[in-house]
Amino acid sequence: MKELLKSTARRALPVSTRRWLKARLDGANYHPPVGSVQFGNLRRVTPISRVFGYDRGLPVDRYYIEGFLARNLSDVRGHALEVGDNTYTRRFGGDRVTRSDVVHVTEGNPNATIVADMSRADNIRSNTFDCIIFTQTLHFIYDVRAAVQTLNRVLKPGGVALVTFPGISQIDYNEWREYWLWSFTALSARKLFAEAFPAANVGIETHGNVLAATAFLQGLAAEELTQEELDYRDLSYPVIITVRAVKSGAA
Ligand SMILES: C[S@@+](CC[C@H](N)C(=O)[O-])C[C@H]1O[C@@H](n2cnc3c(N)ncnc32)[C@H](O)[C@@H]1O
Repeated sequence: MKELLKSTARRALPVSTRRWLKARLDGANYHPPVGSVQFGNLRRVTPISRVFGYDRGLPVDRYYIEGFLARNLSDVRGHALEVGDNTYTRRFGGDRVTRSDVVHVTEGNPNATIVADMSRADNIRSNTFDCIIFTQTLHFIYDVRAAVQTLNRVLKPGGVALVTFPGISQIDYNEWREYWLWSFTALSARKLFAEAFPAANVGIETHGNVLAATAFLQGLAAEELTQEELDYRDLSYPVIITVRAVKSGAA
């Protein structure tokens, strides 16, 4: 098998055998022997990009986040709350959104209509929002249980929280270095949200696989993988965890 890996030897083989060999080499069942793994450009101890792939295209985690929001876009409606800015509210809510609020944890964000720490957000009235888009924020909040209780409290009955957070990820040591606290699993997400919302109203998904996780850790962009590669789900390699949680009661 080792000789067959060499391209000169490969060229001497019949086309059908070469195709079979290529499928074998590309395939999930091929396990290169110890010492023969081809690391190529990935043999490095610093990543190709340190900015999550923003400098190369769409970050891999955003591919999953935006896919999740697109699949649930009918939830983005009425009075909506988003964190930091309202990009996703506008993009996925369109005309269904009648009022858009933005929460930020500190003063000084010009997009923010509400300044609050979601783990003790007494300044936000209960039963206010039809939809909360809470992307990539929960891992910054120390008291995550209190924050998820707040999400439930400030939603109207029947309102929906669309939440995403990292599983396997680089840590941002720039803007959010003072905030980045946690990573999650599907199990911790389920336990967390089922404490605050009716368990039957909580939908958890994980997205990613070993290739997507490797690409994301290296800072490669989604455009550098195929859709098939991005969409293959391996529960052991969650790059992003998504939660759709509905508050009890009629909308
Ligand atoms: C990287 S942004 C995430 C939101 C952004 N819209 C996105 O999708 O990436 C980080 C946000 O976390 C928020 N944040 C951090 N700690 C928070 C807390 N305790 N309560 C509410 N928001 C918090 C900040 O206000 C900031 O807008």
